[in-house]
Amino acid sequence: MSEALRAVQPADMPEENTSEFAADVVGGLSGQPKRLSSKYFYDERGSLLFERICSLPEYYPTRTEVALLRTHAAEIACFMGSDALLVEFGAGALVKVDLILDAIAKPRAYVPVDISGDYLYARAARLLDRHPGLSVWPVVGDFTLPIKLPGSGRYRRAGFFPGSTIGNLEPPQAAGFLRNAAELLRGGGLLVGVDLVKDSVVLHAAYNDSAGVTEAFNKNLLVRANRELGANFHLPDFRHHAFYDPTHRRIEMHLVAGRSHTVSVMGRRIVFTEGETIHTENSYKYTVQGFVELAREAGCIVRRTWCDPQNLFSLHWLEC
Ligand code: TRP
Repeated sequence: MSEALRAVQPADMPEENTSEFAADVVGGLSGQPKRLSSKYFYDERGSLLFERICSLPEYYPTRTEVALLRTHAAEIACFMGSDALLVEFGAGALVKVDLILDAIAKPRAYVPVDISGDYLYARAARLLDRHPGLSVWPVVGDFTLPIKLPGSGRYRRAGFFPGSTIGNLEPPQAAGFLRNAAELLRGGGLLVGVDLVKDSVVLHAAYNDSAGVTEAFNKNLLVRANRELGANFHLPDFRHHAFYDPTHRRIEMHLVAGRSHTVSVMGRRIVFTEGETIHTENSYKYTVQGFVELAREAGCIVRRTWCDPQNLFSLHWLEC
């Protein structure tokens, strides 16, 4: 069997960790304020909903970043170098990497890291169809935890962290992620996509689309808890609420209880008062200068920054 195909065998897939999900949901809903971790958005359904978010007219980040990747692919490929191990953190649909793969002469292998196992393997198989000579070594896991790279040998490593996923981490965690990534990629570098501070009307629309896809994505946390943990969330009792907080420079996403009621999760009674919220995610926005400083705190040097003409979104090449 070829090296490339070996990577997408179902035997590599870990068991779903229901007990961790259960503990996080019960823990997060027992505190004040109530919280749920955004990493649980991404089961297969959540990953597909997220793909739909990316092509919504109001959601400017994806198309702006894709245009930047297209425009600067050759220069980015130069920074990454040929024969590098290309590691993508929170890889999702494996669409953006296509633009880079086409520009890099010959990566040693592509290592997509994603938390959504079935989805990752399906997308990896599809990517192999488009790049028959490529070695794809998927890693199912949480990219905020230390990662063990597959494959033996010490190759130059290039990281890819698009989609402003870094903005979904609290700034100290974002710095921690960059520090870990720098260690993993030592001698190479990391390409990071970062959404920029801008007019709050534009930001608000991006997280409150008129088709309601972001709402469905947000509520997928409750759908998952019902299905996987036997919870009894009644979806119409919650509404999606996303707003820009200029002080923290972040979008906050919440699920707001429309009436006071009680939900049962893993045998626990969770009491909601009317208007009480579950905080599900933050999406921090940076200025170019602010991101350069964050990178510096993490011990990385920003070698090059690319922005679109409207300064909506930025890409940064970090030396590690
Ligand atoms: N990281 C991107 C952002 O914050 C994508 C994203 C993550 C997102 N979670 C989301 C987009 C929830 C919309 C809603 O924009």
